[in-house]
Order: sequence, then C-alpha cells, then structure tokens
Amino acid sequence: MSTRKFAAVAVGMTLALSLAACGGEGAGSDTGTEEGDTGTTEESSEGGLIGVSMPTQTSERWIADGDAVKSGLEEAGYEVDLQFAGDDIPTQSQQIDQMITKGASALIIAAIDGTALASQLQAAADAGIPVISYDRLIRDSENVDFYVTFDNYQVGVQQATSLLVGLGLLTQDGAEGDATGPFNVELFAGSLDDNNAHFFYAGAIDTLQPYIDEGTIVIKSGQTDIEQVATLRWQQETAQKRMEDLLTSAYSDGSVVQGVLSPYDGLSRGIITALQNAGYAVGDAAKPMPPVTGQDAEIASVKLIADGVQFSTIFKDTRKLADQAVVAAQAYLEGEEPEANDTETYDNGVKVVPSYLLESDIVYADNIQALLVDSGYWTAEEVASGQAG
Ligand code: GAL
Repeated sequence: MSTRKFAAVAVGMTLALSLAACGGEGAGSDTGTEEGDTGTTEESSEGGLIGVSMPTQTSERWIADGDAVKSGLEEAGYEVDLQFAGDDIPTQSQQIDQMITKGASALIIAAIDGTALASQLQAAADAGIPVISYDRLIRDSENVDFYVTFDNYQVGVQQATSLLVGLGLLTQDGAEGDATGPFNVELFAGSLDDNNAHFFYAGAIDTLQPYIDEGTIVIKSGQTDIEQVATLRWQQETAQKRMEDLLTSAYSDGSVVQGVLSPYDGLSRGIITALQNAGYAVGDAAKPMPPVTGQDAEIASVKLIADGVQFSTIFKDTRKLADQAVVAAQAYLEGEEPEANDTETYDNGVKVVPSYLLESDIVYADNIQALLVDSGYWTAEEVASGQAG
C-alpha cells in the first residue's frame, strides 16, 4: 500500500512538474496527448484527474451518487471523469481502462459485478493508482485500497425490523407489538454478484429467524436460500415476475401474502405491481396490501410510503457517502492514508479492506418529513409528486 501511495504522489508531482514545464502553453490548453490528457484547466492541474465509475443510470441513486462525488471532487480542485456503465460489465471494464489511459490519479468505483474488474485493477496497481471501492465491495482482488459504504449488515437488520413493525410484531420504538400471527411472508434478495446483497440478506434473516423458528412468520413458498430469492442486477421486472410466480404457485389456495422483505425500492415497486395486479389494495378487506420493505429512499417509493402503499425504506444519505469518497481520494493524493472506522468486517476474499461505514435510518410514513424533507434530501413537492424535481 505504501509503495502505491508514494507512486500516486509521484504521479501528481510529475504532472505538476510537466505542467510547470509547459507553462508557455498556458493553463486551459488541452494538448490531448496520450499521457498528458489530464491537466486541462488550471484548477485541475493542481489536483489531477479522478475517474468515477458508476454502475447504472436506471436507478436515480447512482445518478445522485455520481453527481455528488463529481461536484465534491471538483470543489476540491480535481478534474473528474464520471462514467455510468448501463449495468453492462464489459462497458464498465472499458470505461475504467480509458480512465487509466487518460492518466487518472485515483479511481472511485461502484462495481456492477464485484469480481469482474481484475485486469483493470491490476493495471491501476501497476500505475500506482489508488482504488476506492464505492458502496459495493470489490472482491477477490489485492488491488483495492479502501472502501466507503454503509453498515450493510445493519441495513438488513433495519429492513427486517421494519417488516416486523409492519406486521405489528414490533413497535417503531422496538417494543413488542400486539400482533401474534402467524403471518405469510415472502423474501427477496438483491444481485448475487453484489457483495452487499449477501450482507443485507444476512442481517435480515438473522433478525427474522427467531420468528420463523417459532412459527410466527411462515415463508409459505419455502424459498429461503439466498440463491432462490436473489434478483439478478437488482431488476424490478425480475422481482415482479418472481412475485407473480409466487402468487400463482404458493397462494392459489386462497391464502394471502401478509408481508414481503424487499432489499431495494426498485424491487419493491415490482413486487407491489405484482400484488396490485393480483387484487391486493390498501384498505381491501380480503386482500390488504401487505407491508413491503425497501432501500434507498427513491422518490417514487417515498411517495408510495406517504400514500400507505409501500411500508418502509432505508435511507442511506448518498451525500455523506459521496463526501467520504472525496475525503478518501484526497487523502491518497496528499500522500496520506484515509481514516477507516472498520478494519475487520469487509474481507474481500483476498484481504480485509479498510472501510469507512456510515449509518442508515428506517423511513416510515410518519418520519418522511424529519428524515428526508428537513434534511433537504427531497423537497415536500417531490414527495407529493413522486418525481425528482
Ligand atoms: C446496492 C446498494 C443499494 C441499492 C442496490 C441496487 O449495492 O447498496 O443501496 O442501490 O445496490 O442499486
């Protein structure tokens, strides 16, 4: 690590020296040479280029993450190459290759598949470029320096806890609720190639297991292994299809679904659509909409929560995550180690990656205002319309 740290500093110094040497051309000129493509403005010449690779634009959170990281880095004096990969692994690999070719002095990567970037990471290591894994852990590689994320196991605990609140087995303040069950519940997980999906599911299952063991919660489909309940690439349509299949296969006897563990708002909306298409509705006596959980506080889901359709989501303040990524990148480029607050949890298969973990909150209808509006994450108008303004 220290060799690479120094190499990164050396890259920065070389850049500064070469820019000083060609000062006659003036700041702002872009020579477009293969190696010297980075210092296109006076501001950026001080900091260098940082590559930011995000998985997709289909979910608004990654757009917000990308924008927040970019503006934070620009404010700190860096030039930024921000790319979204359309959830396509070859595209992400290619974009990162290009960032390295362009002379990036640090990389911030939210991987589509946490194991798929081996050759890019090797190239980065060879060039002394520090790699910061953003939100999703890059696995099976020595060549990842730092990880900024949330406490992902705790996110799963919160998802399951909110489901228990929705079922009436717990109250929001953690006391035992009045309900007794048994309740028919179905479980969903995220994409198996995303390390986070395993942490979310582990936290959720550990929380639900005692209720399953005592028979208060019944997984009627019998599908509890993460492989059975996973959703490739976190696709909404895939979750909708699985919910439809479950309703046909496990609930054709007249029984009803009474709760759904969903790990991400996009999936939650697919699940809700399947339930609505099968006649579930808020306030319906025979088929009331069951509590469906979520994650990310996406605006469409926040509106559904306000309207009583989705029960909960987990708010992970992406502004704070972006700030941490900026702080970590800056530390490397100033020749420091970023400060970790967890050096035990995130073993990527090759090494434990030093991490900075942030905390998350459960959003229910009655704390949307306090958590999301008062903090400026969404405006009241956005919540009312369900659309980002
Ligand atoms: C995870 C991330 C979640 C959610 C999901 C789908 O990696 O931690 O917050 O965004 O991807 O995009």
